[in-house]
Amino acid sequence: MFSDQRRYLLAIDTSCDDTSLALLNQNTDVVANIISSQIKIHEAYGGVVPELASRAHAENLPFLFRQLLHDHNITEKNIAGIAVTHTPGLLGCLLVGTSFSKALAYAENIPLFQVNHLEGHLFSPFIGKENIFPFLGLVVSGGHTAFYSVNSFDDIVLIGQTVDDAVGEVYDKVAKILGLGYPGGPVIDSFAARGDSKKFPFKIARVKMGEQYLSFSGLKTAVFQCLEGKQLVEQEVYDLCASVQAILVKTLCRKIKFFCEQKSFSAFALSGGVAMNSLLRQEVVQLCQQMDLPCFIADKEYCTDNAAMIGYIALKSPQRADMFDLNCLASQKIQAKDLKKQSR
Ligand code: KG4
Ligand code: ZN
Repeated sequence: MFSDQRRYLLAIDTSCDDTSLALLNQNTDVVANIISSQIKIHEAYGGVVPELASRAHAENLPFLFRQLLHDHNITEKNIAGIAVTHTPGLLGCLLVGTSFSKALAYAENIPLFQVNHLEGHLFSPFIGKENIFPFLGLVVSGGHTAFYSVNSFDDIVLIGQTVDDAVGEVYDKVAKILGLGYPGGPVIDSFAARGDSKKFPFKIARVKMGEQYLSFSGLKTAVFQCLEGKQLVEQEVYDLCASVQAILVKTLCRKIKFFCEQKSFSAFALSGGVAMNSLLRQEVVQLCQQMDLPCFIADKEYCTDNAAMIGYIALKSPQRADMFDLNCLASQKIQAKDLKKQSR
């Protein structure tokens, strides 16, 4: 796929509210990873508005692509292949990235790899590092809270997950009702540092379905009940943030320990937007030290949605990344022509 001229893999992620493009070389070095955030568009609504998100991607993506080429003094002719997120995500948003990628790959006659967004997160702690298998992976983001047993790039087993809200969702919803804006994670993280986590004694929820599951909807309800008919003073808001954060981190750490007792892993890997969290990063390092387990946490630029992690999967595991058959675009073109003929 790579040649002297075609020396970069272009990666694109438009799965939710960040438009991201990356360039990686043949050795999986990340040469560029640009992320254009849409927070300003969505914050007024307290969450992502799918239609606004896909429109913003459609406007931004061609512009960011031109800027990327310009900044690196390259053209389309220097792109060897494209990796794009094709699932999971907001459908309209995914369509913008996949349509753009298909058109470019078809025009340049280069391969197109369709990558699963969660696999991107899962392996993101290893970007620029040596992979260690088998590892216990925790992806903790706005849409997912899931544990994986990973034996290789091709052998990934989902071993546990939340039965209701994702941890990022709890951060966002609690912030919304406290009037702290969107996204909730960063602001609750900083407010928590000024609060006392023992002021609101929340409990870890047990899930009847089994130890491998987690549940956070009860915590959300407990937080809402604390606020019913009350106007919290500033220090109480800090205390509430600290208490919510403490129970979330404690729950995740307990589960990490549980899974490590079930199977002998050679490493632990933490990823996803919530992996930005200062307490979680700290506690996970400490826990892994106690368990004598190498700990990999995604660099902060690879925690929230980014295209570098998508490109990384396409290069490390091209057989797993679903190769899109560009020939089917050619046959679709013929069909469209035929239909036109028939309708005359
Ligand atoms: O991975 P991501 O960018 O998008 C999804 O794929 O969902 O994660 C976004 C989530 C949001 O819920 C946001 O509140 C959370 O990551 N987040 C944090 C922090 N920074 C972002 N949560 C806790 N602490 C943070 N510092
Ligand atoms: Zn994500």
